[in-house]
Amino acid sequence: MTSTEDLRAKVADALRRSRERSTTLTESVDDDDLVRQHSKLMSPLVWDLAHIGNQEELWLVRDVGGREPVREDIDHLYDAFQHARADRPALPLLSPAETLGYVREVREKVFDVLERVPLEGSRLVDQGFAFGMIVQHEQQHDETMLATHQLRVGAPVLHAPDPGPATRPARREVLVPAGEFTMGTSTEPWALDNERPAFRRHVDAFFIDTVPVSNGDYLAFIDAGGYDDERWWSAEGWTYRNQANLVAPRFWKRDGDGWVRTRFGLVERIPVDEPVVHVSFHEAAAYAKWAGRRLPTEPEWEKAARFDPAGGRSRRYPWGDDDPGPEHANLGQRHLRPAPVGSYPAGESALGVRQLIGDIWEWCDSGFEAYPGFAAFPYREYSEVFFGGDYKMLRGGSFGTDKAAVRGTFRNWDHPIRRQIFAGFRCARDVLPDEAR
Ligand SMILES: [Fe+2]
Repeated sequence: MTSTEDLRAKVADALRRSRERSTTLTESVDDDDLVRQHSKLMSPLVWDLAHIGNQEELWLVRDVGGREPVREDIDHLYDAFQHARADRPALPLLSPAETLGYVREVREKVFDVLERVPLEGSRLVDQGFAFGMIVQHEQQHDETMLATHQLRVGAPVLHAPDPGPATRPARREVLVPAGEFTMGTSTEPWALDNERPAFRRHVDAFFIDTVPVSNGDYLAFIDAGGYDDERWWSAEGWTYRNQANLVAPRFWKRDGDGWVRTRFGLVERIPVDEPVVHVSFHEAAAYAKWAGRRLPTEPEWEKAARFDPAGGRSRRYPWGDDDPGPEHANLGQRHLRPAPVGSYPAGESALGVRQLIGDIWEWCDSGFEAYPGFAAFPYREYSEVFFGGDYKMLRGGSFGTDKAAVRGTFRNWDHPIRRQIFAGFRCARDVLPDEAR
């Protein structure tokens, strides 16, 4: 049991870490860049920042703290459901200077609320849930802002050391045995409504790759004419491929016989050992079919990540129950790229699968559905309104995901055509009759 003081310190630390990151992402560009829309898919960075502050005000200052509103008049401008991303630049938004003043004022009040409110007595505040939700919200927008940085044109403004070299595991794939496992969680304090509750889920035996698909693997698909061969694509995927004229992952460009890519303003040769990133679900599925394999389903991914056959239980993370450390996973924008395939042996799952957390979000061949016993909390718009929509699941987080915003149970979702997110994939396959035990 964590003491209240420890919990307050943990919350304060997480709040500071997320604000440091938001500051890095917004201070690194000038005002002109902050208010510009770098892509129709994204908001101006200044919108994200004010929206972060506004959500924090709504939940922590007004709701948890019971305080007077700071800027009720701007609520509608920063309500993501009222204005689509493409329309946000035309709104009478706060200026960069006003935004900074606003988020600072809100944050000061939040630290005051944190010291005074009891972190128990209602589901919203138990174990600091509302604070954890707001930390995750800020970190999620930080990852979105990082994607905006990847879309912006101009010289590099973000800098980070590269990850070290990797040692590949001996096996290419591992067998995940048939049977039930515990999916989701009822105990993780900051888990969001869509991860709840824990339940028993049967999964047939299957094989899953120990590492994600690399750029080198993916180049073989391109070189084999995979983008021009309808056989590998679903009907929907083929239509999208033709409409968008896809020939390679987003941000790749032909360079003589080979390819280069742009990464946060830097043009570089394709690193063949790195997990492929910036591919849509449709491209991932086409690659898998070409390779005689398939994408894992969401329950398969979670079982490969969490199931420990020795204890028969599900872990919080692939490596166990400890919070993520730098030895486990490439998280938190520590590096501005995925680490080579085979990295982080200390982060391996009980079944021997690596890099499930961090590096790249992994497309899974499942739609977004409620778990049995789901209850919307604290508001329907967090998850419920998205159930059953045109989405595919993304699991595990990327190099741009903070440790506060990913868990073995964490569920992300997006449209199957999205490519600006830090998404890649790994392959799985069925067990063949002569492999059955
Ligand atoms: Fe948001």
